[in-house]
Amino acid sequence: ASRSELAGKTVIVTAGGTVERLDPVRFLTNDSSGKMGFAFAEAAANRGADVTLIAGRTTAPPIDGVKLVRVESAEQMLHAVLERYDAADLVIKAAAVADYRPVEQAPTKIKKSEEKLVLELERTTDILKTLGERKTHQFLVGFAAETERVAEYAMSKLVRKNCDLLVANDVSREGAGFNVDTNVVQLYGKEGLLESLPQLPKREVAERVLERIVQRMRDKAAG
Ligand code: PMT
Repeated sequence: ASRSELAGKTVIVTAGGTVERLDPVRFLTNDSSGKMGFAFAEAAANRGADVTLIAGRTTAPPIDGVKLVRVESAEQMLHAVLERYDAADLVIKAAAVADYRPVEQAPTKIKKSEEKLVLELERTTDILKTLGERKTHQFLVGFAAETERVAEYAMSKLVRKNCDLLVANDVSREGAGFNVDTNVVQLYGKEGLLESLPQLPKREVAERVLERIVQRMRDKAAG
């Protein structure tokens, strides 16, 4: 990658799983390690971009030269992204954001009893959809983590959330998706399937997808 392909560009990457608290010591989350998002942040920084990584729960180590903003919940991630959205040229939404959160967060540890415990959940804000609605000049890259009908769901997310590019992964496949070092992705644009990548280390996936993003950002700027 050229050190200057994204020079002067401001990039936001989200990574990891959000944490939705039940009480001070318990939470709902998912298997995201942050590896995919961190690989994108590093690849963008290597191309000269000014990168802010907004991360939920992760196991990936911090990256030199990338600003790291830690958040817990979907709501906190939403605010962290929106605060920086106007100034951003490119947003890559690799985070696994919770779709539901507990309606109530107990201020103290929930005590057990002999009764069944029923958790009531409510929808979180869809960050990607919000970004799609408020998009002005930004190039917006969404993800789709699917286990079936990948192409159909991916295209539907791309359109509904007003993305410029969508990265789909079939997370039921071995060597793809959550908490592994490799991924198998397909790239979709408004015109449909653009490219199907083989199983590759996440670092390499990020490089290949970013190449495509840079190309498309140029095309978009040229009108
Ligand atoms: O972190 P790793 O262990 O490396 O794993 C990588 C990954 C599997 C998490 C990653 O490749 C991936 O697929 N990320 C998206 C996971 C996801 O939440 O997919 P989704 O199909 O549920 O959501 C679609 C898109 O909407 C995503 O860009 C997501 O960030 C976004 N979203 C979802 C819900 C919500 N409330 N707000 C959102 O912005």
